Amino acid sequence: MFSRISSRYDLLNHLLSANIDRRWRARVVRHARENLRGGARALDVACGTGDLSLALAAGGDAEITGLDFCRPMLDLAARKTHDGGRVITYVEGDALSLPFADGTFDVVTIAFGLRNLASIEGGLRELLRVARAGGRVCVLEFSQPSVPGLRGLFNLYFTRVLPRVGGLLSGSRVAYEYLPDSVSRFPDQRRLAELMREVGFESVEFENLTGGIAAIHTGTRPSPLA
Ligand SMILES: C[S@@+](CC[C@H](N)C(=O)[O-])C[C@H]1O[C@@H](n2cnc3c(N)ncnc32)[C@H](O)[C@@H]1O
Repeated sequence: MFSRISSRYDLLNHLLSANIDRRWRARVVRHARENLRGGARALDVACGTGDLSLALAAGGDAEITGLDFCRPMLDLAARKTHDGGRVITYVEGDALSLPFADGTFDVVTIAFGLRNLASIEGGLRELLRVARAGGRVCVLEFSQPSVPGLRGLFNLYFTRVLPRVGGLLSGSRVAYEYLPDSVSRFPDQRRLAELMREVGFESVEFENLTGGIAAIHTGTRPSPLA
């Protein structure tokens, strides 16, 4: 599915979100900033076309690795990175079985990726495993609008407008029907925070973005892992 929509992915992201997605990713970088200093190592899981990897690279002097299992997405990421004069290592791999040793990264991020994994808990465990003790993990994902009135309006847009426009422009209506469907099945803010605690994260917090349409969950890896 992601291979099919890769060539129109960035355009549709920015168009369908009225560019708000850029601000959301910038916010992730702010949450990770403290841990991105002094030659830190950061991993962006399910990096897709690399927008968050690039934002992390611009946010400090950290060594960035992006990982995704979709080669066409990675190729686009590599091209954008080269054109922007940045250096990021892109790795083809599975978020549920990350090809890195325990405790490798100071920062681990995942943006709009966790929802797509076959196991959310399994994905969270892998993010936690590859973070170093005290390392920061940031999860950016669609969530449940918390502002009264916004939920109905957003659901209307998400289930009626987005699949039509996304389908027309990407050629894959299925992908843009899958999006609202997968968001409706994804845990809400509190439940995701609970899941993070259950798999072993410490200091779990979340920030609602744009009235809860999306949220950033952060947590740290304790030392040693429970
Ligand atoms: C909605 S895109 C998000 C891309 C990017 N992080 C962003 O912010 O735009 C989801 C990405 O997750 C990747 N993905 C889904 N399941 C994966 C898995 N098990 N392992 C690695 N990547 C995966 C897809 O290939 C796709 O590039």
